[in-house]
Amino acid sequence: MKERLEELQQEALAKVEQADSVQGLKDVKVEYLGKKGPITEVLRGMGKLSKEERPVIGQLANDVRESIAQAIETKQTALEDAELEKQLEEESIDVTLPARPVKVGGPHLLTSIVEEIEDLFIGMGFEIKEGPEVETDYYNFEALNLPKGHPARDMQDSFYVTEELLMRTHTSPVQARTMGAKDGSEPVKMICPGKVYRRDTDDATHSHQFTQIEGLLVDKNVRMSDLKGVLNAFAKQMFGADREIRLRPSFFPFTEPSVEMDISCKVCGGKGCSVCKGTGWIEILGGGMVHPNVLEMAGYDPKEYSGFAFGMGPERIAMLKYGVDDIRHFYTNDVRFLEQYHKA
Ligand code: PHE
Repeated sequence: MKERLEELQQEALAKVEQADSVQGLKDVKVEYLGKKGPITEVLRGMGKLSKEERPVIGQLANDVRESIAQAIETKQTALEDAELEKQLEEESIDVTLPARPVKVGGPHLLTSIVEEIEDLFIGMGFEIKEGPEVETDYYNFEALNLPKGHPARDMQDSFYVTEELLMRTHTSPVQARTMGAKDGSEPVKMICPGKVYRRDTDDATHSHQFTQIEGLLVDKNVRMSDLKGVLNAFAKQMFGADREIRLRPSFFPFTEPSVEMDISCKVCGGKGCSVCKGTGWIEILGGGMVHPNVLEMAGYDPKEYSGFAFGMGPERIAMLKYGVDDIRHFYTNDVRFLEQYHKA
């Protein structure tokens, strides 16, 4: 019986040694230490032994059990450690791998241009105003001296929401709104950037939705020379100190007199080339002295107050400044176009 126990011990220890997984080890445990295992079997047969032999074999059997259990436990810890080690190894991150570059966005060219223009006018003491894009017929046309049936309404065909509500065709309604919100004696000095809408067929120079920046200054003794001075300062800061401006007579129902402003062509320096269509000048914006009717409708006495107003398209400014040849580039949002204008 002693030999049998020693044999079992060796056998079991060898199997423990060979076990290469936690599960395999469990099987060995069940096989040798389980209730139906060979050691239990041996112990059952102890009744047949002599009185002297019984405690000796009992002791031995216990020692054998103990040594096997011990070996299993040690091996189990080793196997668990190895398994954890393996898992950690598989899941480990190689921190030496070079990182994938992160694509960083930037402001849209149009946003940058509008902000640049805003900064220039803020520097001259103008404040920024905003107005609704869905506008009433009154503010979009009537308050700007364009009564119903006025032929100049045709120049600004629009998208109507109802008979009286439309997508604003220009930012000029913000003039009327800003003046109207004052008591008729407070000076106004504001610019208004925003989206405008017209019923146009989109092409390289037309878009049914584009951007405008309106400017308005109302006070006592405001003259055309003030308008010219402000626009000249704007043009030189925007396009360069070497650029000249000129004002040409024009027509807008809400300004009288009305002008259009050109800047000298940069490409030919004023001699005439294909960019300026041979004239040496490039049209930039429209403006003029606020029409007395407009002042009056907004509550200002035109005998005491005068003002100038102007309106420009930031897309056009950006096209001229950066040589963009199609207004649709601003709205199709091709990153290959846009990322050229991201400032570092
Ligand atoms: N609102 C005019 C337009 O869209 C531009 C303009 C603004 C002209 C202010 C004069 C004064 O064409």
